[in-house]
Amino acid sequence: MAAQDSHTTVLLQEAVDALAIQADGCYVDATFGRGGHSRLILDRLGARGRLIALDKDAQAVAAATRISDARFCMVHASFEGLAGVLERLGLEGVDGVLLDLGVSSPQLDDAARGFSFRRDGPLDMRMDTSRGQTAAQWLETASEAEIREVIHDYGEERFAKQIAKAIVAARRGAPVVTTGQLAAIVGAAVRTREKHKDPATRTFQAVRIYLNQELAHLSLALPQILELLKPGARLAVISFHSLEDRIVKRFLRDAARADVPIRLPLRERELPQPRLRLIGKPVRASAQEIAANPRARSATLRVAERTGV
Ligand SMILES: C[S@@+](CC[C@H](N)C(=O)[O-])C[C@H]1O[C@@H](n2cnc3c(N)ncnc32)[C@H](O)[C@@H]1O
Repeated sequence: MAAQDSHTTVLLQEAVDALAIQADGCYVDATFGRGGHSRLILDRLGARGRLIALDKDAQAVAAATRISDARFCMVHASFEGLAGVLERLGLEGVDGVLLDLGVSSPQLDDAARGFSFRRDGPLDMRMDTSRGQTAAQWLETASEAEIREVIHDYGEERFAKQIAKAIVAARRGAPVVTTGQLAAIVGAAVRTREKHKDPATRTFQAVRIYLNQELAHLSLALPQILELLKPGARLAVISFHSLEDRIVKRFLRDAARADVPIRLPLRERELPQPRLRLIGKPVRASAQEIAANPRARSATLRVAERTGV
């Protein structure tokens, strides 16, 4: 395997342990990447177990052909369509779902994918290159206000206004079509420097989240997963920044809370029951894992179990 095609899996044992794999169970790895979690799930499944993996990136799907296992099925799909994928496979419920959000190392390391400000390449940034507009196409046509809003909302960038202005000024001269161009424009527009952070980090994250509709798809997937989990089944989600973690945290918190109607004279057993039970506290990577893989630094794993309701 070429170094550029490998991904160091984050919270590998922790996430798979959290799924509490039953040998005969049916599991979903909704973000296959290079299959680090999938392989460990398969190791823990018995002969009658099943694993359905999804990824919206065709290169991840191609990498899955290395797994030759009758219990394994790879689907090129985005996880906001999970209910439809499982329906087509004739599955009504599953015993666990894993989401390891964000981008994989092969996506970041391949300059041709346009995700990295560290490697000059075409400004693409699509996880699914078979659809949607590239970052270059979007930056060519978006209004200054739109660019500012995206960079502010999804990058939590203080200098969003200055960056949007600089992009619009630059594109009057020549279209912004490479990652190097965008990184240079942002670098010049951001006046202060954050410790250990390239000035382009927030803008690249913002454009990537926006183009791939990452937060919207996560928000669409979570309620579907809740319906698909069998009683006792687990959901494990690894997020990498506060915007996606907030969505996961709120969703789990709300589903784990029973809405008790005020003033209704209900007996104990008639009280509404929550649909999820939170399992443990959020898990962060150990110092040892972070030392070996700095990407693990920002990872948070949250776990919940479906109740019988
Ligand atoms: C962090 S990587 C997963 C790495 C994987 N757990 C491993 O150990 O190799 C995230 C993967 O999720 C995929 N992805 C992101 N959003 C997705 C979505 N909405 N639907 C399906 N796949 C998605 C990306 O293409 C990427 O391959």
